[in-house]
Amino acid sequence: MTSHWILGPGAIGRLLAHSLSPLAAVTLIGRRALAEQQWLTTPEGERRVQRLNALTVDQMASADLPAPGFVHITTKAMAAEVALESISKITPPTTPLVLWQNGFLAQPCITESWPGPVLCATTTEGAYLSGGDGVVHAGRGHTLIGDLRDQHRSVSEALAETLSKAGFTATAVDDIRQRLWQKLAVNAAINPLVALHGVRNGELRGARYSGRVESVINQVAMILQAEGIQPPNAGQGEDAWRALVWQVVDNTANNKASMLQDVEASRPTERGAILGPLIESAQRHGLPCEVLQALDQEIAALEASYLSAR
Ligand code: PAF
Repeated sequence: MTSHWILGPGAIGRLLAHSLSPLAAVTLIGRRALAEQQWLTTPEGERRVQRLNALTVDQMASADLPAPGFVHITTKAMAAEVALESISKITPPTTPLVLWQNGFLAQPCITESWPGPVLCATTTEGAYLSGGDGVVHAGRGHTLIGDLRDQHRSVSEALAETLSKAGFTATAVDDIRQRLWQKLAVNAAINPLVALHGVRNGELRGARYSGRVESVINQVAMILQAEGIQPPNAGQGEDAWRALVWQVVDNTANNKASMLQDVEASRPTERGAILGPLIESAQRHGLPCEVLQALDQEIAALEASYLSAR
């Protein structure tokens, strides 16, 4: 039986642990101890309890577990490398990793440094934590899996098959880099603005914010073209990005985006993984990015105001 270590007991980590536990040996790893009894609320509103095998990083060092089949890293983007480092001594270097982060920061760095296969997963599954012992699976989505160098197709297919048995809709793809940048583009147009202004996604349609959304889309479209990222839905240039962003705004009108949730909980945001790669790319290609830089600085100042008070 393939075993799965899941490093990072956030919402996606716990959803994965609940889903895979009936089929495989699962260990959920965090910095702090977790209640063994964990609740899952399904999208249909059913509540299920399950005993998850949860260990701290320190306990892992002496647990003497058999080598895992997969290590899933489900931390926030900026914590992924440190999390991997915390278990690297007990993880054989040939182990396939699965990176579930937003943005495009952890994925190229870990692909470069880890000797074994590094898969990237991007998902539209909706989940959030409720208390210390619960996760709510708010909406079903689609998970795409692949590796940046497209060298591990069979590993991605095996994982997609396992995840499908576990109730996810999962597909192995050969263009995960495109998919990650496409998601990043949408995130860049929505997340920073709603986080700065404390509004739900749908409010971006209003006259107060829509002009700034359009300015972000304009810069992002130029950067992605320079990066060789195809516009979504077989569309053309900036218009295709504009249509996608506004479609996501409408579809998620009532959502509190992840960056707004981070700000409200006084956590560091993923600005470095979302705006960072766009700004870096713009500078490399000699493209304008002052709108993105201004957003990044505003989010940095907001973060500093609450992180320094902790
Ligand atoms: O980060 C998020 O919350 C989501 O990716 C998105 C698309 C902005 C919707 O809320």
